[in-house]
Amino acid sequence: MIKTFKFKKIADDRGALTPIEELRDVPFTIKRVYYMYDTEVDFIRGRHAHKTLEQVLICVHGNCKVLLDNGKNKEIIELDRKDVGLYIGPNMWREMFNFTKDCTLMVLASDYYKESDYIRKYDEFLRYIKGVQI
Ligand code: TYD
Repeated sequence: MIKTFKFKKIADDRGALTPIEELRDVPFTIKRVYYMYDTEVDFIRGRHAHKTLEQVLICVHGNCKVLLDNGKNKEIIELDRKDVGLYIGPNMWREMFNFTKDCTLMVLASDYYKESDYIRKYDEFLRYIKGVQI
């Protein structure tokens, strides 16, 4: 369920650089990039699933944890590397938590923002994936 991508880290005596190219380093065309920051340490973000959206989450500063839940199994991963991305495909409930004060969580997304692609209630998510699996 947890699928990560290790990106290149090009380091020299000036520092480091990580490039990410669509369809090469992530398996989709990147239509949107957004990032979360100044997140309250005790706050949980996410708490939703998407019907079609694909995303890659990269913690570019600080660290946080992500819970993934496919309706049957739950897994937690800690994101604390600038050169590792967590892939989240459709029909996966996610919660982001334990943000450090300095955390910046960047998200690459396969589509524009579309509220109709969200499932924001957990019981609705469980019903929805039952329908998808039949
Ligand atoms: P939301 O997706 O609910 O945040 P979280 O990741 O915590 O679930 O988004 C918060 C608000 O920002 C919501 O009003 C929708 C808006 N928003 C956009 O306008 N564009 C975007 O690309 C995203 C991700 C959110």
